Amino acid sequence: MVVPSLTPLSKDNVAQLSSLNSALFPVSYSNRFYEELLAAPADLVRLVFEDDVLVAAVCCAVDGDALYVMTLGVLAPYRERGIGTALVKHVLDTADKSPSCAAVGRIYMHVQEGNDEALHFYSKFGFSVKRKLMFYYTRVSPPHCFEVEKVIRPHLLRSRNAPEGPESAVRHNQSAV
Ligand code: ACO
Repeated sequence: MVVPSLTPLSKDNVAQLSSLNSALFPVSYSNRFYEELLAAPADLVRLVFEDDVLVAAVCCAVDGDALYVMTLGVLAPYRERGIGTALVKHVLDTADKSPSCAAVGRIYMHVQEGNDEALHFYSKFGFSVKRKLMFYYTRVSPPHCFEVEKVIRPHLLRSRNAPEGPESAVRHNQSAV
């Protein structure tokens, strides 16, 4: 298995990332989403190119005590070759070592109901379903998703039993187009 090289996001490739995410995910992301990615710590976004074609990417954000994987995807013809694994390993490594993640106690993502491949894929890295969120998506079907998480530093987590705080600054389910 060849380990792909992971490229940072830049103004020169952000349009390609937008096209890739549109091809991979049922959720549309606004221009503001990409502006915020460009302003974020560089290790939170990584792209994989093959022969100048963008074939995969991961986009994360720090969300309180968590690292939120907003998108992680590989174009279908390039799957089952270890690219997704390389992106997850980058996320795990970033959560572990990046100064931007010093306060991160867990990593999480939302996986749409029915995406059993992604649930199986993440379980291989120690992620598990924390809860099901009913009607999480407003414009896609099925509208439900699973919050999938991996706790990496339990002592950094805010009380697991505390009531939900104000709305997270990071939103995934809003179709902004
Ligand atoms: N069915 C079963 N197992 C699978 C599948 C599948 N469709 N895809 C990958 N796997 C397994 C592989 O068998 C492999 O296991 P192995 O190491 O024992 O052989 C392991 O997962 C890793 O495979 P990779 O080749 O590293 O993963 P790949 O590059 O194929 O990417 C991914 C996997 C990201 C889930 C890809 O299928 C994809 O992009 N899917 C569409 C987008 C998506 O659903 N993303 C996740 C949504 S949640 C979010 O974005 C936060």
